[in-house]
Amino acid sequence: MENVRSLIDILELSTEEIDQLVDVGTKILSDPAAYAHKCDGKILATLFFEPSTRTRLSFESAMLSLGGQVLGFSEASSSSAAKGESVADTVRTVSCYSDIIAMRHPKEGAPLVASQHSLVPVINAGDGGHNHPTQTLTDLLTIHHEKGRFENLTVGFCGDLKFGRTVHSLISAMSRYKGTKIVLVSPEELKLPSYVKKEVLKKNGIPYEQTTDLEEVMPKLDILYMTRVQRERFFNEEDYLRLKDSYILTPDKLHNAKEDLSILHPLPRVNEISVAVDKDPRAAYFRQVRYGRYIRMALIMKLLGIE
Ligand code: NCD
Repeated sequence: MENVRSLIDILELSTEEIDQLVDVGTKILSDPAAYAHKCDGKILATLFFEPSTRTRLSFESAMLSLGGQVLGFSEASSSSAAKGESVADTVRTVSCYSDIIAMRHPKEGAPLVASQHSLVPVINAGDGGHNHPTQTLTDLLTIHHEKGRFENLTVGFCGDLKFGRTVHSLISAMSRYKGTKIVLVSPEELKLPSYVKKEVLKKNGIPYEQTTDLEEVMPKLDILYMTRVQRERFFNEEDYLRLKDSYILTPDKLHNAKEDLSILHPLPRVNEISVAVDKDPRAAYFRQVRYGRYIRMALIMKLLGIE
């Protein structure tokens, strides 16, 4: 719809807009009470056709913290999708009941279609193995707080780089910053899709390397972004079982890592980071969870045009 700004892909936000969101997110973090009534009377709808803990609840927490209200569903089976309703019709309906919509869907492109039929802004809260822009905003706020900059960082991505939508979105975002270097660590079968390599890394001249060996590249990383093997995207369970424990980060594997490394993970974690790593000050993944709420508050305000 015209005059309604949605967020489907992270690159729809300019780097200046990302800086502003990070700035507002940081201000909210230091004085949440100042924002407690910014969205009084506004309603957020969360339409989740796929499981979620952090993304859905952080969106809801964000809207409630702004004084707004929330409604929605957390599984397709409890919506009219179970009766065969199209995404377009569902969103046409829900946009009559709400001021902004966050949607997660197993099909790539579903939130984009939704945004074309909605009367209100639609936020992509994860579409299949494609994109997840609000996790990326969360990751960027984390990086900003952990490292104090976006430039000149060597970022290692480890695990399921094929189906990991958070990986695709964060690589797109980081490709715009000066001095970014990307290190891709995955099993052969779970390598970064060639469209991301071609359209993002090569197109922007980002230096990158691909390897299967995490320990070998560890010393050069400023950020290590661990990911879960995305079981729900596999065609057969056997392949999942064979690949699921390809990488397990343990304290000893960090012996040659930088002292100021930041370890990020969008969560949920399965086996890929041992709980023994949680005590390491470089483990930033639970701090990252916290940032998700504040950056979503900033985003909701922005898309609703609230200062
Ligand atoms: C991620 C997702 O849903 O893509 N989780 C999240 O939103 N924090 C990562 C994952 O499920 O592995």
